[in-house]
Amino acid sequence: KSVTTVQVNGKEYRADDYTNITPKITSYINRNLHLKKDNPLSLVRQRIVNYFYASFTHGGNPVFSVYDNLSPIVSTRQNFDDLLIPEDHPSRAKSDCYYINASVLLRAHMTAHQSELLRSGLDNFLMIGDVYRRDEIDSTHFPVFHQVDAVRLQRKEHLFVNHPDLNIFEPNYDPTNPHTFTNSISDPSKQSCHTLEATKLMEGQLKNHLIGMVKVLFGENIKYRWVDAYFPFTHPSWELEIYYENNWMEVLGCGIMRNEILANAGPTNSIAYAFGLGLERLAMALYKIPDIRLMWSTDDGFLSQFQDRDVNASIEYKPVSIYPHCTNDLSFWLPPTLTIDTFMSNDFYDLVRDIGGDVIEQVKLKDKFIHPKSKKHSLCYSIVYRHLERTLTQAEVNKVHEDIAAATVKAFNVAIR
Ligand code: PHE
Repeated sequence: KSVTTVQVNGKEYRADDYTNITPKITSYINRNLHLKKDNPLSLVRQRIVNYFYASFTHGGNPVFSVYDNLSPIVSTRQNFDDLLIPEDHPSRAKSDCYYINASVLLRAHMTAHQSELLRSGLDNFLMIGDVYRRDEIDSTHFPVFHQVDAVRLQRKEHLFVNHPDLNIFEPNYDPTNPHTFTNSISDPSKQSCHTLEATKLMEGQLKNHLIGMVKVLFGENIKYRWVDAYFPFTHPSWELEIYYENNWMEVLGCGIMRNEILANAGPTNSIAYAFGLGLERLAMALYKIPDIRLMWSTDDGFLSQFQDRDVNASIEYKPVSIYPHCTNDLSFWLPPTLTIDTFMSNDFYDLVRDIGGDVIEQVKLKDKFIHPKSKKHSLCYSIVYRHLERTLTQAEVNKVHEDIAAATVKAFNVAIR
C-alpha cells in the first residue's frame, strides 16, 4: 500500500482502514454556507439566533453565546465517547460517517462540541455548523448539511429561585462525588439521579422555548406535536414535529442532558437541556426550496432571491426555470464475494457523487436479482441526472454515466450487464 496519509484542509493525517473521506467531500469543508449572507441557511440561522438572543437576557445582554466557526474535524471521543454513545452503536459505522482515520472524523452532529464547551465553563450556548453523514441520494439528502445545537444549563439557585427547599438531585446522589453513583435511565420520566420536579421544570421550559421558536419561524398557528425519542446523550428525550403540507415533519431532537456528561465536563449542582435541529429541512420548508442541492448553488438566479432581504421576510423561492432530467440505468453482476445484501450501497453512492458531482439528482435501487441457475447476484440502479442551472445534453450525461460505470467496475469488481 502506497497511500498512508490523507490531506484534509491543509493538514496531513495518518490513513488507516477506517479512512473513507473523499476529495469531493473534503472540498465542501470551507464553504460555510451557514455564514454566507445571502444563503437561505444563513437567513434561518439568523432568525434562530435572534430568537435565542431575545429570549434570554441578563442586564440587557444576551445570555447565549454562539459558536458558528468550529472546525468540523473532530475526534471519535468528541463525536461519540463524550456523549456516551456506546462502542457498538450503529451511528459509529464506517458506512455512516466520513472517517479521516480510526480516531478522527468529520463531525456527524454539532453535539460533538457540547462537552468541550461545557468544560470551558459555558452554560448557555449555540453550536452552528456543517455536519457530514453518508446517506442515500435524493432531493432531501446531501452528505453535508447544517445543524444548530444548543445547551441551556441551570444551577439549583436559578432553577428553584422561588423554591429554595426543592432540589435537582435525589438525596442518595452526592454531587461532590458523582462517579460513585450509577445513574440509570430505566425510568421513562427521568434519570435516577434527578428529582422529578427538576426534570419536569426543565422539560416545561425546554418545550415552551422550542414551541416559541417554531412559532417565530412558521407562524402562531403552526400545528405541532411531541414524540418520545431516544438519544444516548439525553434522557428523557423528545422529537418535535410540525404539520407541514399534509405531513408530520420532524424538526428537532432534544432532551435533558445525561448527568454523566455534566459530571465529566465539570459543572456541579446543575441540570441542562439540549437540542439539535437541521437547517436545510427548515429552509426548504420555509422558502419552498424543492431540492437540497440548491443550497450549494452559486448561481445568481438562486442567490438573488435571498439577497439583501430582511431575515424575517417571507420569501418563496421561484424556480429560475425547470431544466429537464435524464435517467440512465446501471446494472451489474456482483463478484462472488458480495451479495445483494452485503453490497455497501453508501460506498456506491459516494462513488457516483465523486464522479458525477452536483449533476446527480438521485440514485434509486431499481432492481435486485439472483440468477436461478448461476446464483449470481445482480443490482440495477437508476441514476437521475439534472443540472440545476442549464439543460444537460444526452451526450454529456452518457459520458458521465460511462465514467461511473468504469469506476464501479474498478472499485467493486463488478461486471456491467
Ligand atoms: N445530535 C442529534 C442529531 O443529530 C440531535 C440532538 C441534539 C438531540 C441534542 C438531543 C440533544 O440527531
